Amino acid sequence: MQRFNYAECIEISKRVRWDIEKDVIRGRSFDFSKRFLPDGISMVNRLPFLTEEQKRLLSQIQGRTYANMFGFVERFITAKILEITRDHWLDDQVALEALIRFCDEELKHQELFRRVEPMIGAGMHEGYRFVPDPNQVAAAVLKNSTWAVLGLILEIELFTQEHYKQSIAGDEDISELYRDLFLFHWKEETTHSIMDELEWPREDKKLSNEERDRAIDELIGLVVDVDGILRVQSNADVEYFCKASGASFAAEEMQLLRAGVLKAYRWQYIFSGVDHPRYRTTLSSLVSEEQTQRIDRALASLR
Ligand SMILES: [Fe+2]
Ligand SMILES: [Fe+2]
Repeated sequence: MQRFNYAECIEISKRVRWDIEKDVIRGRSFDFSKRFLPDGISMVNRLPFLTEEQKRLLSQIQGRTYANMFGFVERFITAKILEITRDHWLDDQVALEALIRFCDEELKHQELFRRVEPMIGAGMHEGYRFVPDPNQVAAAVLKNSTWAVLGLILEIELFTQEHYKQSIAGDEDISELYRDLFLFHWKEETTHSIMDELEWPREDKKLSNEERDRAIDELIGLVVDVDGILRVQSNADVEYFCKASGASFAAEEMQLLRAGVLKAYRWQYIFSGVDHPRYRTTLSSLVSEEQTQRIDRALASLR
């Protein structure tokens, strides 16, 4: 069931539009006496051996990685959405405008996250590393079929919605500017997930059963690749955390720390999207019960 159409997406897009400096940053900087990611997202409270100060630092490191992750996932999102506008060039001009706005917003979001990354870095010790190369990863993602890439894109845009909900769920004292990143990003992401829900089924209609079956394997492969990035980055972030905090942990604590950050990242970038009820609704309208089970089996190995 579609709740909105492209014309309504344009209307919403015009209504919620914001400016990076005037609306989001507003001359502010990040308050390093507070956490950046709420606990529901960072899961730092599941590591009871950390001091309050260490939990705060770990949530700030995760917040920096969050900005970096969006700086690159939105790169392949923009490229793919721009590509699919081709289907509307000489056809539905309302759909074309809605999708062009979508791309314009994603370019701005990349700029926002590029803008805040060094602002976060300025308040941290040297030595932080963001491992994946945005252009390399984006190029690898785009080698897959449009069906598979749209499946990944819907997952990402739904999890940004979920993260916003988490950011306002409690009365946690998190950095005001960081909370606003969730708020403003969410505002412009609501129409994106609606358009993904229109475009993915439209793309699906072009495929034969065999092509769809192959595309499902590609989607699974993409999620496994995302997981590979999360493994590498979570390790880099734990390593940096240990250096920056100056703390030394027992071997068993190190193991819990590594597993805890990886689990948080898997929730942030995979499961808060694929487990979203709207993701399940769209996916099950496109694939068979047997194909859903195949996807779920692959996901189970990452839980
Ligand atoms: Fe975005
Ligand atoms: Fe988006």
